[in-house]
Amino acid sequence: MDLSRFVSSVTPSATLEFNKKVLDLAKAGENVIKFTAGEPDFPTPRPIIEAAIVALNEGKTKYTNATGIEELRSAIAAKLKRDNNLDYSPGEIVVANGGKQAIYNVLKALLNLGDEVILISPAWVSYEAQVKLCGGIPVIVPSRIEHGFVPEIADIERAITSSTKVIMLNSPNNPTGAIYPEEFLRELANLCIERDLFVISDEVYEKLVFDAPHFSIGSIQGMKERTAVINAFSKTYAMTGWRVGYSATSSTVAKAIAKIQSHLVSNVNTMAQYAAVKAFEVDTSDMVRIFRERRDYVVSRLEDMGVSFNRPAGAFYVFMDITPYIGSRYENSNDFALGLLDKEKVGMVPGSAFSYEGFIRMSYSSSMEDLKEGLDRLARFL
Ligand SMILES: Cc1ncc(COP(=O)(O)O)c(C=O)c1O
Repeated sequence: MDLSRFVSSVTPSATLEFNKKVLDLAKAGENVIKFTAGEPDFPTPRPIIEAAIVALNEGKTKYTNATGIEELRSAIAAKLKRDNNLDYSPGEIVVANGGKQAIYNVLKALLNLGDEVILISPAWVSYEAQVKLCGGIPVIVPSRIEHGFVPEIADIERAITSSTKVIMLNSPNNPTGAIYPEEFLRELANLCIERDLFVISDEVYEKLVFDAPHFSIGSIQGMKERTAVINAFSKTYAMTGWRVGYSATSSTVAKAIAKIQSHLVSNVNTMAQYAAVKAFEVDTSDMVRIFRERRDYVVSRLEDMGVSFNRPAGAFYVFMDITPYIGSRYENSNDFALGLLDKEKVGMVPGSAFSYEGFIRMSYSSSMEDLKEGLDRLARFL
């Protein structure tokens, strides 16, 4: 069977694959410590669950508008104004199945065959695959640990060609935890306006910030028409399984996305949309405080071990430099991650999953007990 070359050009999500390996070992009875997860280990807050139950009892079980229920899109528009100084009307919001589908919708709405999309590496696993699935060409611009994994404007500028259409940004960043400073985003905005480029700004970790404020590039004058803001309820409200995210774009792009959405999914699960409306009333400061305490603990343990890493300012990952172990004990980051899993039963995701060799990602979305045990094992392994 001759499969589509778009599909053949991508591999399954490496983070989900590693996560599965860890879960399989745990199922087989091994005492595995899982630092692979890309999701908060907290339960979804009770008021959100109750709102879904109420919606079910009220018979909110039918199709909705393809772009999402009015209450949710209005609540999102209000949030974008309140938190991010962004001016979007409910008609410019499209509710999608998680941030993941929201990004895909935007790429699908924008890309023609052969259009180039600049990705900053280390890059979240799905960007490259989604660009390829839409017929685009990913162009990878590495950021460096010496600059706190904030990319250099000059490096981005050098990567721009006549085929460049989109720059993909992710701040707070998965996997580095970097938060891009406002000055950098202002410089980048100037470049985008000058070179007529579009930005997809993935802000799904926006609320998980510890050391620096989050700033949305779309709030800069002249950027609204050329920015898609992506956000989701998954990480902020521990709602990964509910699959609710959204894009905010100019109305031209929003209408294109609405067409895609109407043919692809009809709408996002109706009761999950009603539950998401409730989420805006939930205080998540305790979750953020706990993540900050874990971050501080992990950072101090890694410093004691002499490991190089970028101190994460947001999200719940730390990206460690393992180059001293590559070439001798282990061939590459994948080999290292497999070795760590095999010898010490600690699961982490290799940098190769983020198009970045010589590094490994640890998620600290685990209990303090697991963090202590897992880091003891890592120290022994190193
Ligand atoms: C950077 C980034 N963007 C988007 C997503 C997708 O989130 P969702 O679960 O809302 O689809 C993730 C999930 O891991 C992520 O890490």
